[in-house]
Amino acid sequence: MIAGKIFYRGEFVEAGIEVENGRIKKIGKLVEGKKVKGVILPAGIDVHVHLRDFAEKEKETIETGTLSALHGGICLVVDQPNTKPLVENAKTYFQRMERAKKSAYVDYSLNLALTNSNHEKLGEIVRKISEEYFIPAIGEIFIQHESEDLQIDYETIRKVHEKVGGVVFTVHAEDPAYVAKGSPNFVFRRREAEVLAVEKLVEIGDFHFCHISTKDSAKRILNSNSTFEVTPHHMLLSVDDYGRLGKLVNVNPPLREKEDVRWLFRNFHRVDTLASDHAPHTLEDKEMGASGFPGVETMYPLLVNIASKGYISFKSLVEKIASNPARIFGFKGYGGIEVGNFANFAVFDLKNTKEIKAEELHSKCGWTPFEGFEAIFPEKVYLRGEEVLEGEAKAGNVLEVGNFKNVRKSF
Ligand code: DOR
Ligand code: ZN
Repeated sequence: MIAGKIFYRGEFVEAGIEVENGRIKKIGKLVEGKKVKGVILPAGIDVHVHLRDFAEKEKETIETGTLSALHGGICLVVDQPNTKPLVENAKTYFQRMERAKKSAYVDYSLNLALTNSNHEKLGEIVRKISEEYFIPAIGEIFIQHESEDLQIDYETIRKVHEKVGGVVFTVHAEDPAYVAKGSPNFVFRRREAEVLAVEKLVEIGDFHFCHISTKDSAKRILNSNSTFEVTPHHMLLSVDDYGRLGKLVNVNPPLREKEDVRWLFRNFHRVDTLASDHAPHTLEDKEMGASGFPGVETMYPLLVNIASKGYISFKSLVEKIASNPARIFGFKGYGGIEVGNFANFAVFDLKNTKEIKAEELHSKCGWTPFEGFEAIFPEKVYLRGEEVLEGEAKAGNVLEVGNFKNVRKSF
């Protein structure tokens, strides 16, 4: 029995949760016994992380990235396929899932890449993988990329989108007209790159848009059947942080002017999902201009702190970090504290505000763009009813992956 102040169907209630075989059996009246200190929220889902590994272990591994996720109250991550080698065929997909089975601290899922080499066989590859695993999405699909193989033109996206059904397409919407290869990160009219790509893509079909960072593209998506995510860095940081971040500042899409940042913050309730775009690069790579911010561990804590101060509601936060990602990507058993769902909870003591310090985080990359920001980290994390975080993650609580076999959508 886990008891205390539980976030249940949009509000906090004093209740007790009975767990059986890792799932919530009953949510009922608070019975006598020890109450958990703080509020009990559903553990989060981060549908956009880059856990590197393979040939880039110096940046991050599935092990360190998921440990970081666990300490940030996240119970399920969706890893992106722009790894070295790319996850563009069934063989590499299976290899990576095997690796995750051995080393993931939280539930792990993986997107399949769309490349110029695999687009004609994509349907076949999806079918093959789907016999073994649940594929949440194709993507992150790039319209602009330094690598020729990853930069996909609109016509190819249209064809593949029409042909391959039953799976979400997630896109990194930045049009190459405004972002030439090798151009500096913060170039004039970079903002239009996102707006134009969104304009073109919503005409093609329904997508899930990664890390939307401008109010114009957000508004356009709100007028369509597509969905979109925002990152904490596009909600909380702006061009004003360029000086403070120095060499760390590069990220795609780039940090925006205050007007966009304010809009995203104020319209948080209209956003579909929060995602970190956890993109760990070593400090040496950042010095050389690499783009990306780590963030899987700080996302929920930053936003819980903001919710505790009343700037956003807990209802919105839980929707964006748990229920909406579960619904959009089809993760059955996740998304909220409901009978039948996995007993995945994150417990936050709303009085325990701390400053974020890179040295206390668990990502291998060793830095954060949120150094010194206030956050509320989880005191406890429960995965399938087991307390896996009590100051330190306990060894032996690595969760099995591949557990989506039974909840697979049909293709
Ligand atoms: O800044 C970014 N870095 N944006 C992306 O979309 C990809 C990511 C990466 O993989 O490093
Ligand atoms: Zn990304």
